[in-house]
Amino acid sequence: MISASLIKVIIEESMASPQITRVPEPRLTMDARQYVEVFDKAGTGDGPITPVYLFVASQVAQVIVGCEKVLDLACGSGRLLTQHALANPKIKFTGVDLSAEMLGLAGEHLREQNIHNVDLRTQDITNLTDFDDHSFDAVTSSMALHHLPNEKSLETCFKEIRRVLKPNGRIFSFDYCQPKSSND
Ligand SMILES: C[S@@+](CC[C@H](N)C(=O)[O-])C[C@H]1O[C@@H](n2cnc3c(N)ncnc32)[C@H](O)[C@@H]1O
Repeated sequence: MISASLIKVIIEESMASPQITRVPEPRLTMDARQYVEVFDKAGTGDGPITPVYLFVASQVAQVIVGCEKVLDLACGSGRLLTQHALANPKIKFTGVDLSAEMLGLAGEHLREQNIHNVDLRTQDITNLTDFDDHSFDAVTSSMALHHLPNEKSLETCFKEIRRVLKPNGRIFSFDYCQPKSSND
């Protein structure tokens, strides 16, 4: 159920001007070992990303209730995926990313915690060739879509999401934004 205050924000954002130019993340796929390690560590213990993961995990938990297969786009080092998989042992999760370093760490975290309901794949989120049409009950993504270089690739990504989702499938996306309405 969308709250009245959220509806107010959506209306203000749709009507506010000027349009803000989209600025993509400077490091699109995160390959450099030093950045990958810093990012991964920031999501553990009292790291700065830990509260974000707690919030996202609580939201995703509601979205994936009753799902059999869930696809996490640009799963990174799998800190969130690990939490989802531990909390939902009956769900089969698939995590995709283009960074070998990130996927390597994700694999390590899964092994450390003896988690067996996650499949990791090297895959571009704008070209999900490994997956059949209508094969997932839900698609999730966290802090990922701002890594796509332009609006065209965002569009392509959403087309792929629609293709791999079952009819009435669910989508959850969490990302950064720059509110236009606060610039007035
Ligand atoms: C900021 S990290 C977020 C990781 C994870 N979702 C999380 O919440 O911890 C963004 C991830 O997107 C990945 N990425 C960027 N562009 C991608 C693409 N086109 N296809 C797959 N992964 C991509 C990067 O390699 C990186 O692992």
